[in-house]
Amino acid sequence: MGLSVDDCILVELPRLADPRGSLTFVEYDGKSLPFPIRRAYWIYDVPGGEVRGGHAYRTLAELFIALSGSFVVMLDDGECHREVALYRSYAGLYVPPGIWREPVRFSTNGVCLVLASLPYDERDYIRDRDAFISAKQSGELP
Ligand code: TYD
Repeated sequence: MGLSVDDCILVELPRLADPRGSLTFVEYDGKSLPFPIRRAYWIYDVPGGEVRGGHAYRTLAELFIALSGSFVVMLDDGECHREVALYRSYAGLYVPPGIWREPVRFSTNGVCLVLASLPYDERDYIRDRDAFISAKQSGELP
């Protein structure tokens, strides 16, 4: 068994509360973020109840942050499932490669920021669930 849903870690990011507004940051220091950021993307304007197909990555690691509103990240390592609710702008969910992930249940105005360890590469995706399970079982996936 390779990486599991227990390897997905919720990290509390620095939070500077101030009467002028709060500020949170993330930097590659080996603590809050265990990888250098090579890419960022964000998911927003998600209609209520909408579900996008889940997928896993062969080598990509990601950090999910709810910049606004809330959503749930469904995690699955082929054996165990886990759901993590994100609703604070200073909480980041680290998800290593080899984990099936799916952001769902977006609130109104929910915005999901994803910081990624690699540039976009379609070849790094596993979009088929059965292929994911067999790659996990054979050890082809971490
Ligand atoms: P994708 O990650 O496949 O999301 P989903 O599994 O929810 O459909 O992204 C959808 C499309 O967006 C994908 O086909 C290519 C494009 N895309 C990029 O060009 N760059 C990126 O960094 C991301 C995340 C997606």
